[in-house]
Amino acid sequence: MATPQQQQLTGEALANPPVPMAHQTSMAVSSKLQANHVNFYYGAFQALKDITMGIRTNKVTAFIGPSGCGKSTFLRTFNRMNETIRNTHVEGELLLDGENLLEMDVTGVRRRVGMVFQKSNPFPKTIFDNVAYGLRVNGMTKRSYVQEMVEKSLQRAALWTEVKDKLNKPASALSGGQQQRLCIARALAIEPEVLLLDEPCSALDPIATLKIEELLFQIKDITTIVIVTHNMQQAARVADQTGFFFMGSLIEFDDTKVIFQNPTKKETEDYVTGRFG
Ligand SMILES: Nc1ncnc2c1ncn2[C@@H]1O[C@H](COP(=O)(O)OP(=O)(O)OP(=O)(O)O)[C@@H](O)[C@H]1O
Ligand SMILES: [Mg+2]
Repeated sequence: MATPQQQQLTGEALANPPVPMAHQTSMAVSSKLQANHVNFYYGAFQALKDITMGIRTNKVTAFIGPSGCGKSTFLRTFNRMNETIRNTHVEGELLLDGENLLEMDVTGVRRRVGMVFQKSNPFPKTIFDNVAYGLRVNGMTKRSYVQEMVEKSLQRAALWTEVKDKLNKPASALSGGQQQRLCIARALAIEPEVLLLDEPCSALDPIATLKIEELLFQIKDITTIVIVTHNMQQAARVADQTGFFFMGSLIEFDDTKVIFQNPTKKETEDYVTGRFG
């Protein structure tokens, strides 16, 4: 017969059945970011439908799915960049370290949650000033520190050797791929807690792509990374967990290995094996 202690344990176990790690999508505990039942609308058009997902601390999470399925929209909810688009609204709960992200000071959120956009957007400034921008607006103006962080960030973004002799040239003089790496360097300079990357490698050659992927491994100890990618191999290489989106819904979210090798949903399998559509 079970002891009272055992009975209590059993009762607890029934009330809180163990949840497999990969399925802890609705638990805030281990999540740096948490979305609960998030809907998002552009005017009357609903672009995100009831999305619940936990982004684990110091892991890389990838979003995959066909064009227009809502990956960028969902990514932007985490640093409230959608608010810059008129006639939109969000419903549901978004948490950063368990706190309501929608009620925080927006500048503070963006300081903690950095972003690199799908289309690179260097400021009309020099290469140096682009990378130093975030430091300066956050009050870090000590010359030696700014110089050190600019170099460190450009090195991390695999751009330093190409630009070290022309730091005072306008960023617009760089190639598309270089501009993208500059934007990555700019985001890294303020050492955000979370880095949102929207197809950061789509304009990069294989060597720069590899360097960015190496960077993700390097910074993952200090940063939580969310990456949108159309490149399946990239998701498989870099991500700990992967979410498959389709038509505004999160179809499946699990460890990357499961998504690519043993997905539960047929839609996911069709997509990752290229049989989609
Ligand atoms: N500014 C906007 N105004 C109105 N509708 C928008 C806007 N941005 C995106 N949408 C719509 O929202 C849906 C999701 O778009 P989103 O850009 O999030 O997709 P995505 O998965 O990132 O696609 P892609 O892989 O092509 O980048 C699409 O139907 C798109 O047309
Ligand atoms: Mg997109």
